[in-house]
Amino acid sequence: SDTPHEKMRSAHELAAKLFYHVLTLTEQGALGREYVKERGFTREQIEHFQIGFAPDRWDALTTILKKREFSLDLMVQAGLLGERESKDGYFDRFRNRLMFPIWDGQGKVIAFGGRTISDEKPKYLNSAETPIFHKGQTLYGLHLARPSIRKEGTVILFEGYVDVIAAWGAGFTNTIATLGTALTEEQAKIIRRNAETVLICYDSDQAGINAAFKSANILEQVGCMIKVADMPEGMDPDDYIRTYGADRFKSDVIGASLTFMSFKMRYMRRGRNLANEAERMRYIEEVLAEIATLPRAVERDHYLRQIADEFSLSLEALKQEQYQIFRSKR
Ligand code: GTP
Ligand code: MN
Ligand code: MN
Ligand code: MN
Ligand code: MN
Repeated sequence: SDTPHEKMRSAHELAAKLFYHVLTLTEQGALGREYVKERGFTREQIEHFQIGFAPDRWDALTTILKKREFSLDLMVQAGLLGERESKDGYFDRFRNRLMFPIWDGQGKVIAFGGRTISDEKPKYLNSAETPIFHKGQTLYGLHLARPSIRKEGTVILFEGYVDVIAAWGAGFTNTIATLGTALTEEQAKIIRRNAETVLICYDSDQAGINAAFKSANILEQVGCMIKVADMPEGMDPDDYIRTYGADRFKSDVIGASLTFMSFKMRYMRRGRNLANEAERMRYIEEVLAEIATLPRAVERDHYLRQIADEFSLSLEALKQEQYQIFRSKR
């Protein structure tokens, strides 16, 4: 007989089938279908990512799990059901939400992300940590993306599952996402085992830019080569693809990605008035210290020339300055 872990997994598999069936074939899925149509998800995207819909009922999944003789207490532990406060029954935890199955590295469903189709809070209801689901060790879409990640040697890392799905629609199959939390070292190590280069493509808002900087540092520590996509301020990848289309996403966002150093330089400029001499000098000093950490002389030279050009300084003076910063840090 199955272990509790195996039962939790097969319940998730069953739930994913139910939600997919509801979205694609039933009257109860009508509002979900309307929502996905408005968002522009195609049949192919729905099928590839097994997107579903949890009906607006308290007992849809509960009834099926009961019929299949799952222990409903175990289903509460698995995060699929809740127990009534009166302790006289159980209810579906996900209701009236678009359902995104979350898989482990082998492609087994272990959790769900549920997006409201109205303006209900929270926008995303995600499975909590359970015995089979550890957020910090899971990357959305990894098993689907693995063949093309290996082939290209590069993975594109997003913030949200819908960005992965939108990018897939735009022809990018080497794509994964974290699950609404900061990238962990464990996730970074999993990424490194699959790819040498990581192209970070987070939302271009304050939170996303700060998170990209943090993730890049963690990924660099585990030995990844980093690139950062050039996303216009205020947009996320899904917004961008819907607004400007796949071709421009390819050429102007992915194709125009920055090196980590260029991203750092841009990041260090934020909120600074470089027309002010003192702020400008402070900025240059910080950039020089960063450039000094680059392992390759040609790279250091490249960025030093860039700074020299931009601020009309001599390369000699910058090298001298860099040497002094370096000495004072020892
Ligand atoms: P859309 O609004 O549907 O386009 O999704 P998004 O991916 O653009 O969402 P957002 O950028 O706000 O968030 C990125 C990720 O953070 C999502 O994929 C979720 O995993 C997570 N997230 C966002 N909102 C919530 C929330 O209200 N609760 C929880 N637990 N996670 C959230
Ligand atoms: Mn475990
Ligand atoms: Mn965001
Ligand atoms: Mn977003
Ligand atoms: Mn979005």
